Amino acid sequence: MAAAARARVQVAIIGAGPAGMFLAHLLHEARIDAIVLELRSREHVVSRVRAGVLEQTTVALMHRLGLGARVAREGLVHGGTTLAVNDAPFHVDFDELVRGAAITVYGQSEVMKDLNQAADERHLEVIYEAADVQPHGLDTDAPWITWVSRQGPQRVDCEFIVGCDGFHGVSRGCIPPGESRVFERTYPFGWLGVLAEVPPCNHELVYANHEHGFALASMRSATRSRYYLQCSLQDRVEDWSDEAFWDEFAVRIGGSFARRITRGASFEKSIAPLRSFVSAPMRWGRLFLAGDAAHIVPPTGAKGLNLAAADVMVLADALRRYYATGSAAGIDGYSDRALARVWKAERFSWWLTHLTHRFPQMDGFDRQMQLAELEYLRSSRAARSSFAENYVGLPLEL
Ligand code: FAD
Ligand code: DHB
Repeated sequence: MAAAARARVQVAIIGAGPAGMFLAHLLHEARIDAIVLELRSREHVVSRVRAGVLEQTTVALMHRLGLGARVAREGLVHGGTTLAVNDAPFHVDFDELVRGAAITVYGQSEVMKDLNQAADERHLEVIYEAADVQPHGLDTDAPWITWVSRQGPQRVDCEFIVGCDGFHGVSRGCIPPGESRVFERTYPFGWLGVLAEVPPCNHELVYANHEHGFALASMRSATRSRYYLQCSLQDRVEDWSDEAFWDEFAVRIGGSFARRITRGASFEKSIAPLRSFVSAPMRWGRLFLAGDAAHIVPPTGAKGLNLAAADVMVLADALRRYYATGSAAGIDGYSDRALARVWKAERFSWWLTHLTHRFPQMDGFDRQMQLAELEYLRSSRAARSSFAENYVGLPLEL
């Protein structure tokens, strides 16, 4: 890891999460000179426990970039999932409904390890612990970034800046008020997530709608479970002992799944709020936004990481065309093309959240609508096909 950067690159990327690191590899593949500036340490970025489900497009991207060996070996390929309501689960078979479709369970931390190891091998320039990163000159043809490293103030000049710095990053705020519009929903509950070194209670994921609230049985491997419970936004992690978690999880996941739960000590427990958010357009001047910097989905349906990967595929293709031919058509169309896919994933995540969670103001009518929609899914192949098509990930047209 270089302490001080080169003076000039073609593209400067802010943030070394999935969006920033996938983009760094894509630009390397296109022989575009780039640098990545990351606020936190490498250990912090790699060890964050977050998403766990990869769409086929994301797995294909890993293979295309020569990062696919471990996900092919260790990723768990699932050809379906289960929705459970009132102790009456039903299966959605992706493979049967959308020919050959599947998702792969492989943790975001594993994706980050693969991205970082290959970055070392390819000598990609990633500067960690870059404090006070500031983009400048975004409305000129010659933007630059300043930051502070342990050695003192630094600067790099570039042609484009890509904000891959997540929801709380600096990039989105550089777009002047009036030049972008925010669309947002917050949800009146959070997700309590637990990781435990115990075998999962089912071989595939189970999404449960229970009177007490939502529960999700996921996993990271055949011996490691990732389970979630809808919780109150007032809850703190300390309020939930392991015992309280297992008791409530068994009630909500229900029936045969509950009987197959192996209890064990949790080694990670956290609460995340749920939010739908889009800031549009995803470009201003020489600044592009990608991933969580531009949009957030509630985690139901596991779209966040996959959307970040899809954004940077579209952007890298546009930049490749720009540098190869001088045509700005791709970069001018980036925001519209990325947003077209983003909005569909926003819709699906919002819909699945409404279908499966207990909202505080819900009355009997709202509950009947949930039950009717779940019954429709259970009984209609057309409804299940629509669910499956969105869940495994809509096609990415470059
Ligand atoms: P991020 O992963 O947020 O990466 C942004 C990077 O930018 C970070 O490394 C950050 O340190 C860095 N950065 C921030 N500010 C600056 C700055 N000023 N200067 C330099 N660098 C900066 N998705 C799912 O699909 N399923 C899940 O179960 C799930 N769980 C989640 C749980 C939590 C707590 C969170 C926060 C997200 C979760 N997500 C989940 C969403 C998913 O992890 C994200 O969509 C995904 O990480 C987006 O990648 P990204 O690279 O756009 O942003
Ligand atoms: C996981 C998270 C999700 O939001 C989801 O819908 C499926 C799986 C997970 O962390 O494993």
